[in-house]
Amino acid sequence: MPVTIHNFAVVDDMFRWAAQQFVASMEKTLAYKSTFDVALSGGSTARSFFLVLRETLRPHPLAAVRFFLSDDRVVDMESSDSNAGNAWRDLLEPLSVDKNQLFPLFDNRQRAEICASNYQKQLVELLPKNDQATPIFDLIYLGIGEDGHTASIFPHSDEVTNPPRALVCATTPRAGFSRITFMPPIINAAREIVVMATGERKRGVIDDILHGPMKPESLPAQLILRDHDANVHLLAAV
Ligand code: 6PG
Repeated sequence: MPVTIHNFAVVDDMFRWAAQQFVASMEKTLAYKSTFDVALSGGSTARSFFLVLRETLRPHPLAAVRFFLSDDRVVDMESSDSNAGNAWRDLLEPLSVDKNQLFPLFDNRQRAEICASNYQKQLVELLPKNDQATPIFDLIYLGIGEDGHTASIFPHSDEVTNPPRALVCATTPRAGFSRITFMPPIINAAREIVVMATGERKRGVIDDILHGPMKPESLPAQLILRDHDANVHLLAAV
């Protein structure tokens, strides 16, 4: 299935579209399944999105929603660099979501490698699986970096040059942080993926990701936006 591309002149219109997609996907999913399993992302785009998502979700019951993270930095949740911490403070706590509904990737009592492997085990236990035994998310949000990364899968990193079999990995330090990230097979097993990009400086890289030659070692986001079976929406306000 090809990626659907949506261009927005106004960033808030993009956020509203992405937030409505959450509601539509949640309603569709809860008609046949007892939980709605969504993975949020990080970065400045995600943080601004949380504010719009929060107001969109306010009238909706959320007790059946489980919130995961598609990647995070190996930092305490109190840090403003923690995607889980930001999701909690900016989105979930103001909506009075129970803390047990948030599944942070990093727990500072364990090494990052152990956290990644425990998270994968937890996903296998909690989520339905496809015929490759890969857990299936109902919805995954992602961002794109100016260098073509998505989640914490960075150009020329071990994760793309020598991909491990694990679905959730601890990475070598990138952009100043050790990280934990979902890998392409678990992202691409999701029922729906929404990738958001803001800022003119991403226009060129998005064009290369979508229309340039396949070179995922340099442009890891191609592994999601060019090579998948899921229902993928690329929302661009660039
Ligand atoms: C993060 C994400 C990363 C992010 C992109 C885009 O935690 O930072 O893992 O993939 O979504 O780098 O970030 P911006 O929205 O800040 O440009």
